[in-house]
Amino acid sequence: MPWMTMDRMRTEVAIVGAGPAGLLLSHLLAQDGIDSVVVETRSREYVESRIRAGILESSSVELLDSVGLGKRLHDDGDHHRGIYLQWPGERHHLDFVDLVGRGVWVYGQTEVQKDLGRARDAGGQRIVYEVADTAVRDVTDRPHVTFTVDGRPERLDAEVVVGCDGSFGPSRGAVPETVAGTWTRTYPYSWLGVLADVAPSTDELIYAWHPDGFALHSMRSATVSRLYLQVPNETDLAEWPDERIWAELAVRIGPERVPGPITEKSVLPMRSYVMAPMRHGRLFLAGDAAHIVPPTGAKGLNLAISDVALLAPALTALLRENDPRLADAYSDTALRRVWRCTHFSWWMTTMLHRGGAGPDADFEAQLQQSQLRWVVSSQAGATGLAENYAGLPIGY
Ligand code: PHB
Repeated sequence: MPWMTMDRMRTEVAIVGAGPAGLLLSHLLAQDGIDSVVVETRSREYVESRIRAGILESSSVELLDSVGLGKRLHDDGDHHRGIYLQWPGERHHLDFVDLVGRGVWVYGQTEVQKDLGRARDAGGQRIVYEVADTAVRDVTDRPHVTFTVDGRPERLDAEVVVGCDGSFGPSRGAVPETVAGTWTRTYPYSWLGVLADVAPSTDELIYAWHPDGFALHSMRSATVSRLYLQVPNETDLAEWPDERIWAELAVRIGPERVPGPITEKSVLPMRSYVMAPMRHGRLFLAGDAAHIVPPTGAKGLNLAISDVALLAPALTALLRENDPRLADAYSDTALRRVWRCTHFSWWMTTMLHRGGAGPDADFEAQLQQSQLRWVVSSQAGATGLAENYAGLPIGY
């Protein structure tokens, strides 16, 4: 389109993706006086209604508090001391506060996203939603992002580009395959997740091992439950009418729930993915752009928060003092925590889900039950789970 002139913008940090990682990074940078522009493929309504696990570790809450984002979380969120682990005939409470001195907050990612959106509105943040054809370019020399808005080409020049655009976004592809290592695991099962206008039948989350498959009772508020069932990969939602879901939840978790209206239903594949290094030249990756965890330990949002908590001071030192030390250390420091959470999520997943059929699966089921019994009855076992679930310090 030679007749169209390309609009050009300039900023210090170009952020690709307006999910929690991108918006929180723009917030932290603004507090240090660093200018950023965020570009996002989706609409604001879409990113604010995207349903994800809603558990915040205490270090995530402390960070949000320290930058003025904790008010509604404390008013409307729910502090939980721990979780329940159960298998047929037994339910045990693990009290994280007793075990490791800190609990977790139940506060939906949609709410975190809305709080961030409002804070960025108040800060006059430039965010361009619904862009197309996004490409991250020239990251080892003159980093910039190109995209189109309503078919019009635009170019955003920056000192640094940060990819917060998830595992399907373009940033990851800007790290050459010769530079990046990737580690993946696809789990042989998925979750069927539902949101229901039903009061939770429990005060804290229930993680249930069952011979028919794992089930989880989570919640969003006093009147809304979030429930999950392990299902085979490629499950067709048409096979799961509401009555079948309620019946299966009753079998796997217990009969306490009163069925009610299901307002959302989806199948979530489960995978682990890590890409390293989380930096190439002047491109940095944060959150799902660099790593994916299965939802069993609810670590995804917490990892996004801890990545940007490390990255913001690193970029401030780089851009304000020309000091590259924190930026150079970013990938290694972030990856220590990423691998810890990847291991924890894998461990929770494989401890709680039924594998395939046959003698190996029966053997595995015995090991799982032995492991569960050890976790709930040994101080060391319980403390290990609690320490990881309630979260390690951000610099871990
Ligand atoms: C959720 O509330 O969606 C949720 C909670 C805990 C998990 C996963 C998902 O481990």
